[in-house]
Amino acid sequence: MRSIIYNKYGGPEVLEVADVEKPEPDANSILVRVKASSVNPVDYKVRRGDMKIMSGKKFPKDAGSDFAGVIEKAGEAVAGYKKGDEVYGFLNPMKGGTYSDYLIADPANVSLKPERFSFEQAASMPIAALTALQALNYLGNVNEGTTVLINGATGGVGSFAVQLAKTLGAEVTGICSENNMKLCKDLGADEVFNYAEEELNKSGRKFDVFFDAAAKSTFSKSKKFINSRGIYITTIPGIGVIINRIFNFLPFKKKSKFIMVKSSGIDLAILTGFAMTDTMEPVIAKSFKLEDVADAQELAESGKFRGKIVIKID
Ligand SMILES: NC(=O)c1ccc[n+]([C@@H]2O[C@H](COP(=O)([O-])OP(=O)(O)OC[C@H]3O[C@@H](n4cnc5c(N)ncnc54)[C@H](OP(=O)(O)O)[C@@H]3O)[C@@H](O)[C@H]2O)c1
Repeated sequence: MRSIIYNKYGGPEVLEVADVEKPEPDANSILVRVKASSVNPVDYKVRRGDMKIMSGKKFPKDAGSDFAGVIEKAGEAVAGYKKGDEVYGFLNPMKGGTYSDYLIADPANVSLKPERFSFEQAASMPIAALTALQALNYLGNVNEGTTVLINGATGGVGSFAVQLAKTLGAEVTGICSENNMKLCKDLGADEVFNYAEEELNKSGRKFDVFFDAAAKSTFSKSKKFINSRGIYITTIPGIGVIINRIFNFLPFKKKSKFIMVKSSGIDLAILTGFAMTDTMEPVIAKSFKLEDVADAQELAESGKFRGKIVIKID
């Protein structure tokens, strides 16, 4: 079978198509015929070696974390899934393996994909939409009437966050570049600000939750935008967040949290539920073929896209 691998850390050019052995599931796992994947920042960060403290020095490495596909074989101890089920999920980004014709997954970490979505749409969701769901729902406790500010509101995480926050009943304000302001409104944001301008600063607005989906702000800069008991949630913690977390027992009024996305079939099933009720629509920037994964990652690193970049595998 085909699989994208790399033998050293580096630019997109290190990615190559290899002919590798098709894996065999054990009693507790499923073999998935991969139909589509997508690109997340973590995929190119791992490939560049930015995270080598976690990804290690052993090569060759497999690439890709998100997937959507069809179960080809379920181990004899697997309950709840069978051959032919259309599923989606993500593999540990430090290990990769979804830019492949087949992969092995833990059934606890997948869910049936939303029926109305193509495999490419479904593959755009796992890491980005789960990050948004887990940050807003579990860390931010966002619900009816919560005021939420989303930074990077038209990126992979942000585009799902705007839609999920609206679905949870929040009043949503998005921050994005000038070019993406209309898209941000179309995703459902009640109000949109351009991050290159000072409008939001001048407005004096304050929010219950500041979700820094793009991780382009900091806890100290965010404080003026959050209510006295507000919370700042980021996808990448800076020193301010770490200090605030360590001294969490002190009566700081404003809190910060950081999201570390967890693979969860239960949370994916929640996303499938939202997707089935038409309250969520992935934004697909561009689709690439498996052999063009290097071009896909290059575009992702350039930042010149909106929503998600997907890989069509079948
Ligand atoms: N901790 C976790 O578990 C976790 C999970 C998922 C992602 N992440 C991290 O979260 C970050 C975002 O991921 P993603 O998939 O959403 O990335 P992405 O799709 O590349 O989106 C990046 C976003 O950043 C916005 N942006 C660029 N410069 C900005 C600025 N100065 N101010 C505000 N926004 C700005 C872009 O907006 P414009 O296009 O409008 O310029 C774009 O919407 C990445 O660093 C990723 O590694 C962490």
